[in-house]
Amino acid sequence: MIEQLKVGYIGGGFNAHFHARALEQVRGMEIAGVFSPNSGPKFSKFAQEQGLGPCKVYPTVRELAQNVDTILITCANFARLEIMEEIAAAKKAGARVWSVMCEKPLGRNVAEAQRLVQLAEECNLRTAYLENQIHMKAIQIQKAQLEPTERSMGPLMLTRSAEEHAGPHEGWFWDPTRQGGGVLSDMGCHSIAVGWYLLNPSGQSLTYLQPQTVNCDLGLLKWGQPLWRDRLKKRFGVDYAMMPAEDFATGIVTFKNPATGQLSKAQFTDSWMFEKQGLRLFMDGMGPGYAFEVNTLSSPLNLFIGDEAAAAVKDQELALEKSTSSRGLLTVQPNEADLYGYVDENRDALNAFRKGTDALLPFSYGLEITKLVMAAYLSHESRQTVDLTDPAIQRKLETYIPLIQQGRGREVL
Ligand SMILES: NC(=O)c1ccc[n+]([C@@H]2O[C@H](COP(=O)([O-])OP(=O)(O)OC[C@H]3O[C@@H](n4cnc5c(N)ncnc54)[C@H](O)[C@@H]3O)[C@@H](O)[C@H]2O)c1
Repeated sequence: MIEQLKVGYIGGGFNAHFHARALEQVRGMEIAGVFSPNSGPKFSKFAQEQGLGPCKVYPTVRELAQNVDTILITCANFARLEIMEEIAAAKKAGARVWSVMCEKPLGRNVAEAQRLVQLAEECNLRTAYLENQIHMKAIQIQKAQLEPTERSMGPLMLTRSAEEHAGPHEGWFWDPTRQGGGVLSDMGCHSIAVGWYLLNPSGQSLTYLQPQTVNCDLGLLKWGQPLWRDRLKKRFGVDYAMMPAEDFATGIVTFKNPATGQLSKAQFTDSWMFEKQGLRLFMDGMGPGYAFEVNTLSSPLNLFIGDEAAAAVKDQELALEKSTSSRGLLTVQPNEADLYGYVDENRDALNAFRKGTDALLPFSYGLEITKLVMAAYLSHESRQTVDLTDPAIQRKLETYIPLIQQGRGREVL
């Protein structure tokens, strides 16, 4: 068995730091290197200071691939495909790398996600699609605890999943052509995946419940207003008067149980206009006679900072992801990397790769989620419920690029 899995990071930004903090809580994985055009040295210094591995800065993807067992792709979305092509080329030329982990979304559209799946297959790479929310302890533990209830009463009938905060930290997220869209592309993928996962009966495969229809409504509720549009332009150089993306998304995916014909529904709500303390993940589920609820803004730790003391808070972003306030009654999550599932998703990938298998969520699963997200964009664009059982719709999704992703959001928002 491999004692120490050497991981190389592509990208050294916000999310890379989250994974690094998770690795402080995982044995058997060291950060051997990083490739990142802007943030390599800074990330390397951080990883070394935390004792997470040598984290050598490599000048090319090829050289990184030659020196690690697994590559974690956590670069900006627009660079995904080109990076994966480079990993595949390196592997075909004999590089050491034999597994790859990729942050959500797997692709900005189905064609991109499909290409990632294909490249991994061609190179015989083990894969992990990084959807942290499915790995959250709260999600896994409720599933385990409710399993006997589910078996006697029947599976969940309805889930509601939400991820909401006040907006992303870097300009490329706001640019629909580079990111893939607005909040639906960025965070809808989480909520749709976790909803499907929760509804699936215990012991069945990830895709056991068959998606039937998707219904979605998008809005530009806050960041299209003049005051907020101007702020966006000043801070990130993104002009939502010309090329907007959605800051609110909600919808319902309907699934069918192939054995019983029973329908169940996953409702999703995602926003970049959440005016509360910071990031909130909310999930709940209703089964016949039972239910569960997760709310990550409920913490055992609260701080109070009065006006006189407002300057004294040490690091507001470290207290809570996307925190919007540094005074008043503040929610603090002391271990966000664990709370949001990063620790368990890294452990899962490590354990699977050690056995030579794909992680719980392989790339092919990321592709299925991308299809559902694209179907949601199509539903908003066409103002119709999208019928996923229609072969013509499935064919359309293969090449579909939402108008918002094309930079034509003004036509539909
Ligand atoms: N699972 C989650 O909840 C979650 C949270 C945040 C971000 N993410 C995902 O992680 C990824 C990174 O997001 P982030 O928040 O760290 O963004 P970020 O902007 O903070 O960092 C992006 C990194 O990508 C690097 N980069 C840019 N162009 C590159 C290229 N051509 N080749 C290689 N690297 C390149 C940048 O140097 C930077 O280090 C995104 O895909 C995002 O969707 C996931």
